[in-house]
Amino acid sequence: MTLSAVEVHKLKQAPALDGVLPTILHRWSPRSFSDRDVSPADLKAIFEAARWAASSYNEQPWRFFVGRRNSPTYQKIFGALIEFNQAWAKSAPVLILGAARTTFSHNDAPNRVALYDLGAAASYLTLQAAALGLSSHQMAGFDEAAARKALEVPENYIIGAVIAVGYQGEPAALPNEQMLAQETSPRVRKPLSEIAFSAWGQPADLG
Ligand SMILES: Cc1cc2nc3c(=O)[nH]c(=O)nc-3n(C[C@H](O)[C@H](O)[C@H](O)COP(=O)(O)O)c2cc1C
Repeated sequence: MTLSAVEVHKLKQAPALDGVLPTILHRWSPRSFSDRDVSPADLKAIFEAARWAASSYNEQPWRFFVGRRNSPTYQKIFGALIEFNQAWAKSAPVLILGAARTTFSHNDAPNRVALYDLGAAASYLTLQAAALGLSSHQMAGFDEAAARKALEVPENYIIGAVIAVGYQGEPAALPNEQMLAQETSPRVRKPLSEIAFSAWGQPADLG
């Protein structure tokens, strides 16, 4: 007997950590999405959240393709995914592809943090989704050249990730055992001592 969607959602929560925003603790990336559609208001809200992310020179280099199920945009994004991702992402009602302009618009100089800014906007998007009770799952597993061609992304834009958005579905609906096992196992993270330093490799004193 596999775990239900509700049981898995509980299992995936990060432990309560003093002072950390609850939405950050609640967000996780399912592969099983339910049939339920995302409302136009919620879809708009997640992009409003992305829009208000910080960016270098306030360039806002991010651009997003928004594909709703059965739309040409959805088909184009879906068509670029690797087989592994297609196998589960087909249940998601919304697929998003992010790209970022690699030059500043005020002087055409290279923007070496364009992808960083896109990632920040994507984080806002996924957290806003979580706050609305939606789930999201980001993907690097797609053919970048195929996506660029299908969506006619200009050369001076770097392509980031695909983001599946929708409502969490039942784990039992996943197409194979490997995905089921991953969907029903707890989330893991490196300890702070491995990521926050006072000098290279030396854990910062965070109390
Ligand atoms: C940029 C990026 C690319 C990812 N690519 C894939 C992918 O191609 N396929 C997939 O199933 N999951 C992908 N993931 C999901 C990660 O495996 C997942 O976020 C990670 O295991 C942490 O789990 P959590 O999001 O539930 O905390 C990706 C996540 C990110 C942020």
